[in-house]
Amino acid sequence: MRQLLPLFLVASAFGSPLEKRVSGTSVVNLGNNTGSPEHLASGILYGIPDTPDQIPQNLYEDMGFNYARAGGAQVAAPGRGWIWGLTEYKNRFASALSNYQTARTYDANFIFLIHDLWGADGTQNSTAPYPGDDGDWSDWDTYLTHWISDINANSATEGLSVDIWNEPDETGFWNAPQAQYFQMWGRTYHRLRTELPSVKLIGPAFAGQPDASNDWWTGFLSFVAGNSSVPDEWVWHMEGGGGDMEGAYGALFNLLGTYNLPNQPINIDEYGTYNEQVPAGSAWWISQLERVNAIGLRGNWLSGSQLHDFLASLLSKPNADNSNYSATGGGYFPNGDYQVYKYYNLNMTGYRVGSSPSTDLKLDTYATVGSDTVKVLTGVRITTGTWQVEINDLSAVGLADSGTLDIHTWSFPSTGGHFGEVDGPTDLGWYEHTYSGNSVTFPIYQTDTSTAYAFEFLRG
Ligand SMILES: *[C@@H]1O[C@H](CO)[C@@H](O)[C@H](O)[C@H]1NC(C)=O
Ligand SMILES: *[C@@H]1O[C@H](CO)[C@@H](O)[C@H](O)[C@H]1NC(C)=O
Ligand SMILES: *[C@@H]1O[C@H](CO)[C@@H](O)[C@H](O)[C@H]1NC(C)=O
Ligand SMILES: *[C@@H]1O[C@H](CO)[C@@H](O)[C@H](O)[C@H]1NC(C)=O
Ligand SMILES: *[C@@H]1O[C@H](CO)[C@@H](O)[C@H](O)[C@H]1NC(C)=O
Repeated sequence: MRQLLPLFLVASAFGSPLEKRVSGTSVVNLGNNTGSPEHLASGILYGIPDTPDQIPQNLYEDMGFNYARAGGAQVAAPGRGWIWGLTEYKNRFASALSNYQTARTYDANFIFLIHDLWGADGTQNSTAPYPGDDGDWSDWDTYLTHWISDINANSATEGLSVDIWNEPDETGFWNAPQAQYFQMWGRTYHRLRTELPSVKLIGPAFAGQPDASNDWWTGFLSFVAGNSSVPDEWVWHMEGGGGDMEGAYGALFNLLGTYNLPNQPINIDEYGTYNEQVPAGSAWWISQLERVNAIGLRGNWLSGSQLHDFLASLLSKPNADNSNYSATGGGYFPNGDYQVYKYYNLNMTGYRVGSSPSTDLKLDTYATVGSDTVKVLTGVRITTGTWQVEINDLSAVGLADSGTLDIHTWSFPSTGGHFGEVDGPTDLGWYEHTYSGNSVTFPIYQTDTSTAYAFEFLRG
């Protein structure tokens, strides 16, 4: 094999000795088979145009689209939801139904956001009503009657989940007492369970991650334990730019023990800040979510019609980011971030293997072992510096425990940012590494905050 020094290594090889600059090491253990890849992080919040087939099929398929979440938020007027009357409800419902039908075309599951359909999408005014205001549940009950009837009339229960309320721990979505939220949860859960028994009821979709000192979490877990309304999936969001999945999951696990609750599947149905929605950040999040087997849906930081476009900032099109933007325009192309999801879906096949992030939590890796090739995707959490990747137990994939290993490196640049066109990763060539002790270690010179890397080598 050719022995080329990848360009990014050449550019970064000058300066102080490596040992002094390494901030940490992410470790892959090839002997730790953690099961089949299901590209758990390939979901999106909104991002689907209300016109079916506006985005070409291959762009959904290649990124591994498998989860959607919507409820008609911010559709064109008149469409502010139930609290503005039946017509405004119907327009939101039509948008959500269209998105549901698109999702089902790709066998993707769909999370219906009934808080958005109600009208609490964050754009509601400060006196907007909430379910159960002044102890009166009649409007919420009537609303649910309409919604259940419309779901049934459209045969829209397959692959359906309901997030009972989005981010009630943020006043932008729930500007009413906490106790009223718990009552709303209990009433809604039992009604939907009875009337739509096949539909998953999930939550609490808090903005805040599980934490024993967060009274939304402790209050919620205590309430559902006493109310027999345990969600089918534990849901929360990771969009604050901090935290990590092992820490958050560990806190949930302890809380479940405290309240004697079951360890249901985890769904992070909004992950990543807008800044993190670049190749490095996405590779980091994929690694984090896969490690704890969490379903993940990319957050969506666009608004208005753009909220319903671009597959949650994975695509662009002509005039995407200027005043000539057209909600119904075509000509879609992928951005740099898209290429990470495409590689994750189409190339990272075989079986997953365990890994750990660097101790500073800045570098993380996701790895798979295929029939011929080992693939390691790595990304930083939007920072620069030098880290290492260490790959252990090479003999588990049939390699000698010492020798030389030819590693093929690819970079995933974020050229042009969220609206730039990137048609594939960049081939940085092959580099030969000498190793011993059944383990190979190599540096990641991260000179920008957004590029992800993939490393590939043949099994023995
Ligand atoms: C606030 O929104 C509600 C509907 O949610 C509406 O009835 C009310 O008129 C609005 N108030 C103002 C001041 O716009
Ligand atoms: C759960 O809470 C709701 C709201 O308070 C209540 O209507 C329902 O009866 C409760 N169910 C159980 C089983 O406790
Ligand atoms: C928008 O389109 C008009 C008409 O084609 C053109 O004159 C104008 O420069 C365009 N604006 C932008 C920001 O591209
Ligand atoms: C991913 O797989 C496709 C199809 O086998 C292949 O053409 C492409 O080169 C692979 N990409 C990388 C980065 O390995
Ligand atoms: C295997 O990897 C998983 C996921 O990273 C981890 O939870 C587990 O502890 C690892 N097992 C071993 C034996 O290293």
